Amino acid sequence: MFISFEGIDGSGKSTQAKRCVQALRELGRDVVLTREPGGAEGAEEIRNLLLTGDPDRWSAETEILLFTAARRDHLEKTIQPNLDKNAVVVTDRFADSTRVYQGATRGDLRTHVDVLHREMIGIDPDLTLVFDMDPKVALQRGLARSSGEDRFEDFGLAFQQKLRDGFLALTNDFADRCVVIDASGSQDQVFERMWSVVKDRLQ
Ligand code: TMP
Repeated sequence: MFISFEGIDGSGKSTQAKRCVQALRELGRDVVLTREPGGAEGAEEIRNLLLTGDPDRWSAETEILLFTAARRDHLEKTIQPNLDKNAVVVTDRFADSTRVYQGATRGDLRTHVDVLHREMIGIDPDLTLVFDMDPKVALQRGLARSSGEDRFEDFGLAFQQKLRDGFLALTNDFADRCVVIDASGSQDQVFERMWSVVKDRLQ
């Protein structure tokens, strides 16, 4: 099973991805937690190029190519080998982030994203959890982390609002695998919402 966690910056999806992995391990499942951009040695190097520096450092078109290159490395080195071993692969972001961050925020580039995805990646998750919350609160949380990987947070609130709309539209495009999780409230409340969906799908 291949599960992705998606959402705007600061939506709490990374914390919930970790908790999901822990809960799956408690059920005795073989689970791998990974992330994008990154999840393999070369892809992590590309991550550094993409997430640091000036917001204008790359155009959305260049980003599509870099994220797809990183994803291909991640797929070859981490995702596919673990799916082949029947492990559950949980990834903190996957192609839906490119569909939204690059495909729907700075011009309509979705066709380019979809063509590259079909030619170079070719798989989508079995289940995608989209963490949804007020972009204002999420952005404050994201920036407060000062992770040094704030290039996309630095595009500002209007950008985060576009992202939220983009993720919600995407869940309609892929209604068979996408589930929106209300990411407001305490970590435990969000965990309960997320886990009830994952548990259902496992059955
Ligand atoms: P995160 O590890 O905090 O989620 O940060 C990853 C950042 O990269 C986040 O701002 C979203 C962005 N991103 C894209 O713009 N496109 C993509 O395809 C992926 C995977 C991430």
